[in-house]
Amino acid sequence: MLLTLTIGFDGVEIHGAHGYFIDQFLKDQVNDRTDKYGGSLENRYRFALEVVEAVVNEIGADRVGIKLSPFGGYLESGDSNPEALGLYMVESLNRYGILYCHAIEPGREKDVDIKERPQSLVPMRKAFKGTFIVGGGYNREDGNKALAENRADLVAYGHHFLANPDLPKRFELNALNNEDAQFTSPRRLRTDEIPQIVDEFRLAAKNAIEAGFDGVEIQGAHGYIVDQFLKDQVNDRTDRDGGSLENRCRFALEVVEALANEIGIRLSPFTDSYESGDSNPEALGLHMAESLNKYGILYCHVVEPRMKTVGELHETPQSCPH
Ligand SMILES: Cc1cc2nc3c(=O)[nH]c(=O)nc-3n(C[C@H](O)[C@H](O)[C@H](O)COP(=O)(O)O)c2cc1C
Repeated sequence: MLLTLTIGFDGVEIHGAHGYFIDQFLKDQVNDRTDKYGGSLENRYRFALEVVEAVVNEIGADRVGIKLSPFGGYLESGDSNPEALGLYMVESLNRYGILYCHAIEPGREKDVDIKERPQSLVPMRKAFKGTFIVGGGYNREDGNKALAENRADLVAYGHHFLANPDLPKRFELNALNNEDAQFTSPRRLRTDEIPQIVDEFRLAAKNAIEAGFDGVEIQGAHGYIVDQFLKDQVNDRTDRDGGSLENRCRFALEVVEALANEIGIRLSPFTDSYESGDSNPEALGLHMAESLNKYGILYCHVVEPRMKTVGELHETPQSCPH
């Protein structure tokens, strides 16, 4: 945690929600331990509170928040009494004086409309002495209402931000229409949109270096956006970014060029995650490796052909072409 602050972050949010490690201790439907970390509420909370205490002692309570989802059941992490669980947690957290508690609305996973949720975060809000953030399924109107009714100090937004990077401005202008608010299906980028995406890679890398990272690895593997350009089984473009090897590698190399020297790139020519396979992975890998030489980047990180699908090993005659 100290390292996190050393590289420039303002603070840390401990992830105690959504079925991750800490949540697995908290919830009685998944914690079946019989030692001092299982059974009673107090025992199930021991681990979370030990983490909170350790982090607070390291970086100070005013830099620590926690995210909780007592009502959630992600990854089978449900609880038979989420009201008691949430309340117990915030009351225990008060001892440490942490900056904020960020709680996920009940029913979020099932997309139940906020107005129709029988359960509520209000008892947790009333019991917690620090800043209380709510999140999960909020739109502009619901968020303003939560603040006006003093059900929260702040509202967190997730998917609206993905569809609207200028969300605060849109909220200010009340310019978020319903269409924008939905997840849009993935679509082929228009050719004229591509330079902006390349520039966003550049900006993200610049931010990372300014925040203290030593370098940046471009994710060009495993079916993510760069890989989707590279592979002929998923890139069906007919413009300057589709078709020939040279065209399919153009986007990746533009990103590399925009980021300049202190970077590496990760490639997985042989894998087919998210349907991103290629009919000639040897040629693809080789073309990328040769093209990368002219940029003098730090390194190239290549995923083994035997790892065809992430997490699975396969016998294969192929090898990395470098
Ligand atoms: C595309 C997407 C991916 C997410 N991935 C994770 C994740 O990996 N782990 C996690 O705890 N929450 C994840 N979240 C949940 C967000 O952190 C946040 O709690 C949630 O989006 C807030 O609800 P809202 O999207 O309705 O505003 C994700 C949300 C979205 C939209």
